[in-house]
Amino acid sequence: MKDMGWNPQQYLTFEGHRLRPALDLLARIPVDTPRRVADLGCGTGNVTRILQQRWRGATVVGVDGSEEMLRKAREFESHIEWQQADLNHWYPEQRFDVIYSNAALHWLSDHRTLFPRLLNFVEPGGYLAVQMPGNFTAPTHTLVYEAARSGPWSDKLEWRIKAPPVHDPVDYHRLLAPHSEQLDVWETTYIQELTGENPVAEWTKGSWLKPFLDALEAPQRSEFEAVYRRLILQAYPQGPDGKTLLPFRRLFMVAKAPA
Ligand SMILES: C[S@@+](CC[C@H](N)C(=O)[O-])C[C@H]1O[C@@H](n2cnc3c(N)ncnc32)[C@H](O)[C@@H]1O
Repeated sequence: MKDMGWNPQQYLTFEGHRLRPALDLLARIPVDTPRRVADLGCGTGNVTRILQQRWRGATVVGVDGSEEMLRKAREFESHIEWQQADLNHWYPEQRFDVIYSNAALHWLSDHRTLFPRLLNFVEPGGYLAVQMPGNFTAPTHTLVYEAARSGPWSDKLEWRIKAPPVHDPVDYHRLLAPHSEQLDVWETTYIQELTGENPVAEWTKGSWLKPFLDALEAPQRSEFEAVYRRLILQAYPQGPDGKTLLPFRRLFMVAKAPA
């Protein structure tokens, strides 16, 4: 990788666990001077700015469905073009040399149609690079469902329980191989070291648990959360050193569009 201004280690120091897979994915894209780069589900643009730093000469476009996220993204001055769009209906006018997406596409359904469609928006010889969590059957998630079904709130929460949105890595390989010149699909389980009293519950509160909490009002909201916290503490106990280990599986794919 040529760009000297791009320093993954520095970003890791500040952003920690959530940024690491984004950087691991970026490191696997063998492109030096792309002209056009898209970051799909860019959120507040933390990772988009890293893409821009790595590929300084490129036009970088950050796409997200949330205006609130994009408002934050725009607070930092940059040359990045921010676009609000629902990726389910995203049809760019021009193709991209790199389409990158970190921790976003698991929010979209029907991956069997979505992924080949996205690869179609990549210039010949360019790359589609995607990372998604693959932890939907881990206790972090299954205990949300157990807690959701175990109280008087179950009728308000049951409908939120869905089948895992992300398939096995082998499925993505089979799906993309016929459309790719080269394809690399892999998974990594990061053993995340967390500190605090119940850090795994805190972690999921910012992600998978949130819509379940949002669906309830006091006092049920805090009663439901207490049940979840108790279950999660049993599943992820603190070690003798005071640290809690959260294994976090993630799926990666880098597909090269046929030249
Ligand atoms: C967990 S954030 C990841 C943000 C960023 N990629 C990162 O790595 O920090 C997921 C983002 O996907 C966006 N998103 C989810 N579904 C979307 C959709 N259908 N269309 C566009 N954006 C979507 C959300 O608004 C959110 O900003």
